[in-house]
Amino acid sequence: MKIGIVMDKPRAKILQNEEGLLEDQIKKSTAAFVEEALQTEYDTVLLVYDKDIITKLRMENVDLVFNLCNGIRGESRLSQLPSMLESEGIPYTGSGPIPHGIAYNKIFSGKIFKASDIPTPGFYTVRSEEEVENLSLKFPVLVKPKDEGSSRGIKDDSLVYNMEDLRRKVIENLESYNPPVMITEYLDGAEYTVGIMGNRENLRVLPIMEIDLSRLPKGMNKIYSFEAKFEFEDFVTYHLPARLDDRMKKKIEETAIKAYQSLGLRDYSRVDIRLKDGIPYVIEINSLPGLNSEISDIVKMAYAEGQTYQELVLSIVEIAKERILVDPMQELVSNINEVI
Ligand SMILES: Nc1ncnc2c1ncn2[C@@H]1O[C@H](COP(=O)(O)OP(=O)(O)OP(=O)(O)O)[C@@H](O)[C@H]1O
Ligand SMILES: [Mg+2]
Repeated sequence: MKIGIVMDKPRAKILQNEEGLLEDQIKKSTAAFVEEALQTEYDTVLLVYDKDIITKLRMENVDLVFNLCNGIRGESRLSQLPSMLESEGIPYTGSGPIPHGIAYNKIFSGKIFKASDIPTPGFYTVRSEEEVENLSLKFPVLVKPKDEGSSRGIKDDSLVYNMEDLRRKVIENLESYNPPVMITEYLDGAEYTVGIMGNRENLRVLPIMEIDLSRLPKGMNKIYSFEAKFEFEDFVTYHLPARLDDRMKKKIEETAIKAYQSLGLRDYSRVDIRLKDGIPYVIEINSLPGLNSEISDIVKMAYAEGQTYQELVLSIVEIAKERILVDPMQELVSNINEVI
C-alpha cells in the first residue's frame, strides 16, 4: 500500500508576519515526522498541494492520502484538498470537506454547538469598526479571527477591557484575517484540550490535557495566546492527565464527543474546552490537529497513554482504513448523530 502525504505550500507569502513563518516551519517538520513514521509500514511519497495534485497522486499510484493540508488561502481552505479527493474518489485520512469547513469557521461551529445544546461562549461578529458601537457588551471580551489556528490573531492584548481597545483590535484583525471578526464572551476558567480518535461506536478519548496558565508573568492575560504558546511556553504548565475528578472528567469527555459528533467529524480531532461554574464550554474544535512530534498537544496526549509517535500516526491510518471499508464512497458525513 502506498500513502501520499500531502502538505501545504508555504503560507508566509500570504500571511506576511512571524505567524506565517512559524506556521510554515512547523508544517515542514511535521510532514517529515509523519513520513518517517509511515515509512516503517508503507511506501510513501511526500507531495505539495497545488492544482495538479490529483495528477501527481495518480502518477505515484497512491492508495491513500494522509492529509496534512490546512490550506493557505480562502475561507474554505481546510476543505480544498478533501473536496478534490472526494470528487476523484481517492481515500484520505481525517474529516470530509463539510465538517472541516464548519469546524474551521468558529461562527458556524458555534451556531451548531448552540443548536445542539452544547455549551459554548456567546459572540458577536463585526465587519467594520463602526459596527462595534451598537453592541451591548460585558467587558472583558476576546477579539479573535473566525478561521485561524495556533492562536494566530489571538495575542495577549486580544482580551480587551474597554471600547477604545476593542475598536483598535477589531481594525487590526480586519487588516490581516478573513472578515468578519468575532467578539466573544470571555470565559474565565480552567482550560483543557481533549483528543478524540475514531468513528461511530469506536470513539476513544485520549488523556485530557489541562493547560495551566496561572504561572504566566503578572500583567499577562490568562489566555493561551500566541505569546503564551510561542514565547512564554516555559510559563505554561501542562497537566497530563488533567487534575480532574472522575465525574468532571466524564462530563468533559462527553461534551467533547458530543461536539465532535455534532459537526460530523471523522478519524481524529482535538476539542478545546474551558470550565466555568462546573460547566464545560466548547471553545472550538481543531478538525486537523497538529501532528508535530515535538510540540503538538494530541501527540503529547498519545505519549501520556504510552503510545509512541509512530503508533499514533499509524493508528490514524488504521482508523481511516477501517472507516473506508465500511463506507467506501465516503459519502456520509459519517459521525453526525441525532444531536441536531
Ligand atoms: N471565549 C473564550 N473565553 C476564554 N478564553 C478564550 C475564549 N476563546 C479563546 N480563548 C483563549 O484563546 C486561546 C486560543 O483560542 P482558540 O482555541 O479559539 O484559537 P486557535 O488559534 O484556533 O487555537 P489552536 O492552537 O487550538 O488552533 C484558547 O486556548 C483560550 O485560552
Ligand atoms: Mg484552540
